[in-house]
Amino acid sequence: MDVLNIGPVTLYDYHPVRQDFLRDVVEGLSATPPRISSKYFYDETGSALFEQITKVPEYYLTRTELSILREHLPEMAAALGPRCVVVEPGSGSGMKTRLLLSHLVDPVAYVPVEISREYLIASALALAEEFPELEVLPVCDDYFGPWLVPEPRRPQERNVVFFPGSTIGNMQPDEARGLLASLARRCGQRCGMLIGVDLKKDPAIIAAAYNDSAGVTRAFNLNLVERLNRELGAGIPAGAFEHATNYNELLGRNESFLVATRPLTIGLGGSSFHYEAGARIMVENSYKFSLEEFAALAADAGLRVVLVWMDERQLFSVQYLTPI
Ligand SMILES: C[S@@+](CC[C@H](N)C(=O)[O-])C[C@H]1O[C@@H](n2cnc3c(N)ncnc32)[C@H](O)[C@@H]1O
Repeated sequence: MDVLNIGPVTLYDYHPVRQDFLRDVVEGLSATPPRISSKYFYDETGSALFEQITKVPEYYLTRTELSILREHLPEMAAALGPRCVVVEPGSGSGMKTRLLLSHLVDPVAYVPVEISREYLIASALALAEEFPELEVLPVCDDYFGPWLVPEPRRPQERNVVFFPGSTIGNMQPDEARGLLASLARRCGQRCGMLIGVDLKKDPAIIAAAYNDSAGVTRAFNLNLVERLNRELGAGIPAGAFEHATNYNELLGRNESFLVATRPLTIGLGGSSFHYEAGARIMVENSYKFSLEEFAALAADAGLRVVLVWMDERQLFSVQYLTPI
C-alpha cells in the first residue's frame, strides 16, 4: 500500500486492479456459466457513464434514493450522531455524501473506498474543497480487499458506513453478508451503517432501469469489452458483443449479459475462449429485496435493522443498521 499526499487529501492506494484484472477475467471466463465481475465496469470512462445512467428517466434508483435522503436526512444524521468518521464503499461521485455530510454534526473524516482510482481522486479533491474542515482520506482498493480505515487526526465518536446506490445488490447474497460483516469488523462494535437497498417491485420497472432507451446502459456494459481490448489486448472485433438484460423473478435479481453476435474466439493470458453466436457472459446481477429478506441477510452478518425510510411508492429504502 502506498500513502500519497495529493493536495489536501491523503490517498491510501492498495493498487487493486493492476494485480487482478487478467487473473479474474481468465478465471471468470473459465467458469460455468462464464462471467466477469461488475467491478470491472468502473474505469474512468465507466464511472462517467454510470453518472449518466443515474440521470436517465428509467433509472429510478438514484432519483428515488435522493428523494428519501432529502426528506429524512435530519433523522439519519441524528441516528449517526456527532463527530463520526464516514466510510463509504463504492463512493462514486460522492453526490449523496455531500448531502449527508452537510447534515452531520462536526464530522471528523471522510473515507471513500473505491476501485476507480482517477474518479476517486477527482471526487475526493472536489469534496475536500467543499468541506475544508473535513479530513478526506480516500482509499483505493476493492472493498473486498485488505484495506483498513485510516486513523484520522482528530478522535472520532464512532465510525459509520454510508453505502448508498444499492451497490449491496450487485453482490451474491453470501458476498453481501461477508462484506457487511467485514465492514462491521473494520468499523468497530459501536459502528452504525446507512445502506441504500432497492426493493422488489413490478419487474417491468426493474427491467427498464437496466436497459434505458437512450442506450447509456448499453454503452456502459460494452465499455467492459473496450477495457478487455485496451488493457488486456483481447483483440475483440467491434460489434462482436451486444448488451442484454433479463429480470430473473425466481432469484429476485436483474441480470446483465454480454451476448456474442457471431462465433468468435478470444485469447487471454495463454487461454483461449470460444463463443457461438448467442453465447452469454454474465457481467452484473442487481438483487432486489423485500424488507424481510434484507433484515434476514443483515442478521446473518451480525447486524440489526433499526430504522427504515422509504419513498411513497416503496420502490427503494434507506436502512440504518447496528451490530447485534
Ligand atoms: C452502483 S455504483 C454506486 C455509486 C454511488 N455510491 C452512488 O450511490 O451513486 C457502484 C460504485 O462502486 C464502485 N465499485 C464497484 N465494485 C467495487 C469494488 N469491488 N470495490 C470498490 N469499489 C467498487 C464503482 O466504481 C462505483 O463507483
